[in-house]
Amino acid sequence: MLDLGSGGGIDVLLSAKRVGPTGKAYGLDMTDEMLELARANQRTAGVENVEFLKGEIEAIPLPDSSVDVIISNCVINLSADKDRVLAEAFRVLRPGGRVAVSDVVVRGTVPPAIRRSVELWIGCVAGALEEQEYREKLAKAGFEAIDLEPTRVYHAEDARDFLAGAGLDAEAIAPEVDGKFMSAFVRARKPAG
Ligand SMILES: C[S@@+](CC[C@H](N)C(=O)[O-])C[C@H]1O[C@@H](n2cnc3c(N)ncnc32)[C@H](O)[C@@H]1O
Repeated sequence: MLDLGSGGGIDVLLSAKRVGPTGKAYGLDMTDEMLELARANQRTAGVENVEFLKGEIEAIPLPDSSVDVIISNCVINLSADKDRVLAEAFRVLRPGGRVAVSDVVVRGTVPPAIRRSVELWIGCVAGALEEQEYREKLAKAGFEAIDLEPTRVYHAEDARDFLAGAGLDAEAIAPEVDGKFMSAFVRARKPAG
């Protein structure tokens, strides 16, 4: 399996147990500090079947059809080139392989200034994809069995203080924000044939 944007590596270390001693878990991250932390965590955990790779999720340093499962938590929304990320995920997956990532997704249209503030509040700094756009991009990359399952829907009430601190009138923009941002499990499969 492969974790895109593996950070401190915890998801990779947990996955290493799942794939068993004959399997392998890769973590990919572009930041030296995060790779150092992940490798230190690996040493502490004493896990052998793990490798942390340096690189960008837009150019995954693994061969075609070499991975069964791709996971990722709150990283794809940070990429400026999501088409490239999804094309790369498709390339490295084996036929029948699956993507199961957690990401921030927008439902419907939100004015750009409000969108930026809410994204900062949720904790991502670049562009979360709109739900339908995410489905279309996955389909364009070649994926099938596409499914987006909300795991947390953010409400205007939750962001009231943050929005006020950002100089926005939380009451006035509530209808633009309420229920439009969510964390979701995004699942898809590379066709087997
Ligand atoms: C929000 S953190 C998430 C870390 C981890 N997935 C977690 O759940 O704790 C984002 C991570 O993705 C990495 N990252 C962001 N953009 C990246 C890119 N384009 N290529 C590779 N790594 C990236 C960052 O270095 C950081 O470690």
